[in-house]
Amino acid sequence: MEAVDLYLNLLKKSLTNTLFEEEPDADNPNQTSYVSGFISHYIRGVAISMLPVARFDNLQSCIFDAINEGVPGDLIETGVWRGGATIFMRAMLKAYGVNDKRVWVADSFEGLPEPDAEKFPVEANFHNGKIMKSYYNNFAVSLEEVTANFKAYDMLDENVKFLKGWFKDTLPTAPIEKLALIRLDGDYYDSTMDGLVNLYDKLSIGGYVIVDDYGEDAWTNCRQAVDEFRTSRRIEDPLTRVDSRCYYWRRMR
Ligand SMILES: C[S@@+](CC[C@H](N)C(=O)[O-])C[C@H]1O[C@@H](n2cnc3c(N)ncnc32)[C@H](O)[C@@H]1O
Repeated sequence: MEAVDLYLNLLKKSLTNTLFEEEPDADNPNQTSYVSGFISHYIRGVAISMLPVARFDNLQSCIFDAINEGVPGDLIETGVWRGGATIFMRAMLKAYGVNDKRVWVADSFEGLPEPDAEKFPVEANFHNGKIMKSYYNNFAVSLEEVTANFKAYDMLDENVKFLKGWFKDTLPTAPIEKLALIRLDGDYYDSTMDGLVNLYDKLSIGGYVIVDDYGEDAWTNCRQAVDEFRTSRRIEDPLTRVDSRCYYWRRMR
């Protein structure tokens, strides 16, 4: 194996805290046991990302294609939590000596927004329920903590750009010219739609859209946002499954 692959494999294990611990099985049919594993491994644990390794593998292969095939534009994640997936983006660009792409790190840095209860009762119920309030803390992680995580991995430099605030406020005016990869991980309908509406036209042909929560129907309307957007824009590029929750497509026109 090449040194760059050895480094990226080790980095994935470190960011997901899977060097010495197993990650919870997202497809565990026993949801109670999955949620308790999620809380202990991610929320109370030291993982820098809550993505399973399979989603890092997908991210890696999309970035590799973009680099290898010269797809123009930067990389963005909307919804970063502790920053692990964006740290990995920056690390990949460094590892392959790519200096003309930036990594955009978009988050409120104060957690998920309150969903509209009339339009999205499933989201609102979950948002105000015990698991989110008592355990997940709305997935709130401060900008200081995320910056410190970038520093700890030696990935904080001028090619990392933070967009602090609600997506509806930051994305329309973000000074992003072109994108090669959009990773949407804001969970809710509005957060997903804000990302698509404001970023999709900047995505180069050959670029990727990864939707972390497309299959997360138990507590989000993410799928609805993606389906509506794709229908309204007549996007027929096939949606490909990464795991039961995460899907992606490659923009072909
Ligand atoms: C599930 S976490 C992201 C997980 C992350 N990608 C990782 O690698 O662990 C969801 C994140 O989206 C952010 N978020 C969701 N909706 C948002 C919005 N409308 N504006 C800003 N941040 C938002 C939350 O603050 C939270 O950090």
